[in-house]
Amino acid sequence: MHIDGSTKILGIIGDPVAHSLSPAMQNAAIIAAGINAVYLPFHVTPPELGDVIAAIRTLGILGVNVTVPHKEAVIPFLDEIDAAAKIIGAVNTIVNRNGRLVGYNTDGIGLLRSLRETFSFQPAGKNIVLLGAGGASRAAIVALAEAGAASIVVVNRTLRSAEQLIFEFADRFPGCSLRALSLSDEGVPDCLSEAHLLVNSTAVGLHGESFDISIVEHLRADAAFCDMVYASVATPLQQEARRQGLTVMDGRGMLVGQGEEAFLLWFDLAPPDQIMRKQVLK
Ligand code: ATR
Repeated sequence: MHIDGSTKILGIIGDPVAHSLSPAMQNAAIIAAGINAVYLPFHVTPPELGDVIAAIRTLGILGVNVTVPHKEAVIPFLDEIDAAAKIIGAVNTIVNRNGRLVGYNTDGIGLLRSLRETFSFQPAGKNIVLLGAGGASRAAIVALAEAGAASIVVVNRTLRSAEQLIFEFADRFPGCSLRALSLSDEGVPDCLSEAHLLVNSTAVGLHGESFDISIVEHLRADAAFCDMVYASVATPLQQEARRQGLTVMDGRGMLVGQGEEAFLLWFDLAPPDQIMRKQVLK
């Protein structure tokens, strides 16, 4: 990497941020593409957020990724919000277009990209079970429903939160059958057995914990399983799925997918093939 007077600056803002794999992943792609840019981690606490966004304009920073806890809070500081980010209600990528800061959300489209690369999975006409009804679940629903999923069943510990999501999205995606179920509902095993794709959008498993009910044993042998959790040791759910012969895409798949989509937005250039994936798997 060669830094000179015209090197563009990008980065990630979050609290914490030191654990992020994005700097290594994005810099690997920047170098491979021969772009004169550098991507840095910025530790930004909530009270600093407004000043930091103003500094992006002042310093001419080309773009940033936004991570926990700023994905929703950043919205009022931006000049424009892309349609998908608006529906999802969260921004994970900012592009500085000549001083105008535009907010995007590449989590959902990144999920689709990584599903395509890992499983050759196309959502059109498919049945999907989504565990969890938080922020990560919103991005997944919007992307999967927009891509033509036949049905999405949101299964959540707290039924009310899943119902609220369905209520919010039902009118927007009339072609997709949206249902909410409690994790303890006796209909859950049937939904799982009809699913082409299971997505875990909760953080369950991050610290070795399990769901209270059996999940993967109900899945078909050809079902795809995407777990947004990435832990240094495979989670109990991931281990069980692998024992059953299923292919598992863990949180690294989505990290790569969202990163590749962000790269495309900043540089208007497809990221060099497989570079980010190789860097993250290293
Ligand atoms: P994020 O924005 O990252 O999606 P979140 O909004 O805190 O995070 O959502 C966490 C999701 O994980 C919720 O759907 C939560 O279920 P509840 O709505 O019942 O809280 C789910 N979750 C967290 N811990 C869980 C557990 N031990 N078992 C089942 N679901 C759990």
